[in-house]
Parts: sequence; structure tokens; C-alpha cells
Amino acid sequence: MTSVTLDPSGSYLTLKTAHATRRFHAIWLRDNAADAETRAPGNWQRLITLRDIPVETRIKNATVKDDTLEVRFDPEGKVVSYGLAWLDAHAYDDAPPQARGWTEPGVDLWDAGLMDHVPTGDFAELSQSRGALSQWLEGMNRYGFGKVVNGPIEDGALFRIVDLFGYVRETNYGRHFEVRTEVNPTNLAFTGAGLQAHTDNPYRDPIPTVQVLYCLESSAAGGENMVVDGFAAARRLRDDNERYFDLLADHCARFEYAGEAGVCLTSRRPMIELAPDGELTAVRFNNRSMAAVTDVPFDRMADYYAAYRRLGEIIDDEAMAVTFRLNPGEAFVVDNTRVLHARKGYSGQGTRWLQGCYADKDGLRSTYDAMRRAQTQEAAQ
Ligand code: FE2
Repeated sequence: MTSVTLDPSGSYLTLKTAHATRRFHAIWLRDNAADAETRAPGNWQRLITLRDIPVETRIKNATVKDDTLEVRFDPEGKVVSYGLAWLDAHAYDDAPPQARGWTEPGVDLWDAGLMDHVPTGDFAELSQSRGALSQWLEGMNRYGFGKVVNGPIEDGALFRIVDLFGYVRETNYGRHFEVRTEVNPTNLAFTGAGLQAHTDNPYRDPIPTVQVLYCLESSAAGGENMVVDGFAAARRLRDDNERYFDLLADHCARFEYAGEAGVCLTSRRPMIELAPDGELTAVRFNNRSMAAVTDVPFDRMADYYAAYRRLGEIIDDEAMAVTFRLNPGEAFVVDNTRVLHARKGYSGQGTRWLQGCYADKDGLRSTYDAMRRAQTQEAAQ
């Protein structure tokens, strides 16, 4: 049985349902009215500004009928209905999260244990089946990482991966970049250098939030790819040493790339980025493009470096990494705000040719959310 009560001043109401008791402010309810004078029916854009709502807005009365809450506002005399399910989904009267470094429901942190169930999509299935694409995108949102297999082995095929969910982000490296390694055939001892796990391009602001790496040739031994969940690494740092976590979250690092004529990219951002309420929103980690850090007070710099070193040790721990080999026609996609990638060294003869490009997470999430909403609406009809 759902009931509603008003506080004496009419500044908020209390809605009690079978499973929760939550308060809603008069001004919040009025601003979120869904009537045709407040919101455009076609695109749901708000038609009024806050100053169109009287500052003295109060709830005159409120009643529950079936699955709807009906509210009359003073001084406008306006009556607005709200679906109880909508209110439940948008309630804000819950205890705020306590520990810094929390993540949204639907985000799962992982370590090497993910190895056997990496979200993997078949290129043809992803291209033809909305269900398959939706499932793969769900995995991308959950783990920040996914693979695509059985794709075409042709120059530029990586763009067809991006076409599945969004748009390419062009940079000074072009629309895409080549990762081509010719291992020296006359010197079998030659070992192509490995790269420590990193996020790409932290010197950009904003950073490219999605990276695609697509394999076209792979005959050299070694060169396996590794990915590490930066959120899991940050959380492990917090659980090991909260002060270290706070040092990397509360101070900006600096990143720079000026390695070609006419390019001078700089950024000032923390290695561990939190929302104001402590949500873990991004990790930046890239030894090659760290610039001189100048935003840590003198008496904290030594500890800051200890924290940076410890985060690096966690990232280098093999128990954190998922390792795999990309074969021609296979790609991996990472959320570059979260998942670090690395390459192991090469040895022996042969070539390795990958193409990479950047895209953005807003497109990926929009594609997924739009598909999910359409599925919900179809199910309701
Ligand atoms: Fe990279």
C-alpha cells in the first residue's frame, strides 16, 4: 500500500511504498514535471528555465492513485502526475556512498580471473544482430574491455568496429595509426621492446575515451597483448593504503607530448580521478608521457612518489592482467578512462601489423542505452 504525506510547510512530501520511504522536494518535483508545458513531447527537452518556477513553490496537496502520484503546486495551482515507477527509479533520498572509490552498479572490477570469460563478439553477428551487439556493449560497460573476432583482414577494417557503436576521434596521429613491427630477421636475439601497461594519450584533455586495436598480421613470436583494470588497481591501492589512494586522487599529475613539429599537448589531471561524491571515474597512468609533477606540496611529494610507485607495482602484478594474443581479423576495444593496455616483447622472425584508432564512450553508451530502452519499450507493448 503506497501512501503520501506532506510536511507542514509543503516544501517536501514523503512517499511510502511497500519497499521504501523517500522524500521529494517541491522544487525538484516541479522542475521534473513531465507535462507538455514543461517538457517538449517529441524530444523530452525542458521548455522552461528555473526562473519560470516561482521561488516560493510549495506542494499544496498530493495524492496517490493506482500507480501515479498527483501533486498540486502553489502558487501556480498547477497539477502534475508522476509515475511511481519513475519516482522509484529517480529517488535521491538514499544514504550517500561512504568510501571514496565506489563504482556504479553494472560495473564489475576484474583481475586475471576474467581471462576465460572476456566479452567477445563475432564480427558478423555483431553487425547483423542487435541482441548480440547489445550483449557485447553490455560487457564493454561492465568490464571496460571487449574483443571482436572473425573480422575482415583488410586495411581499415578497424573503422567497421567503431561503426558498430560510435564515431572515430581523429587526432594529430590521424584518423588511425599504424603499429607495425618488423622483427630483425638477421638477428634472432633481437627482442622488440615490451611496453608497461598504460592508458593512452593522458596528455589530451579530454582524453580519447575508447581505443580500438585491430590485428592484420601476426607472424612474430611474442607481442601478446595485456589489459589491466585500472579501477581494480586503484581500489586495491585504496584497500592497501588509503593515504596513497588519496594522494593520487587529490593532486593533479601532469602529462605532455610534444614529440612532433607543431604539436604541444599538455594536461593537468589526477592519476586517479573521482567525482565530487567519490565515484571512481578515471585512471590515467603512462610513464612515457608523465611530465614534471608540480602540483604536490613539498611535504607530500615523497609520499606521492611512494603512492605512484605502489600503483605501478599493482599494475605490473601478473595477477591483475588478462593476457591474450590477437590474430589477424581480431580486435580489442578498451575504455581508455579505465583499462590499461600493454604489449609484451617480440622475439624471433616475422612481422606484426596492427591498426589502432580512437573513439568515444559517449557514443558507445548512447548506442547501448538506446537499444536497451527500445527493448524495454518493445517488451512493454
Ligand atoms: Fe597504447
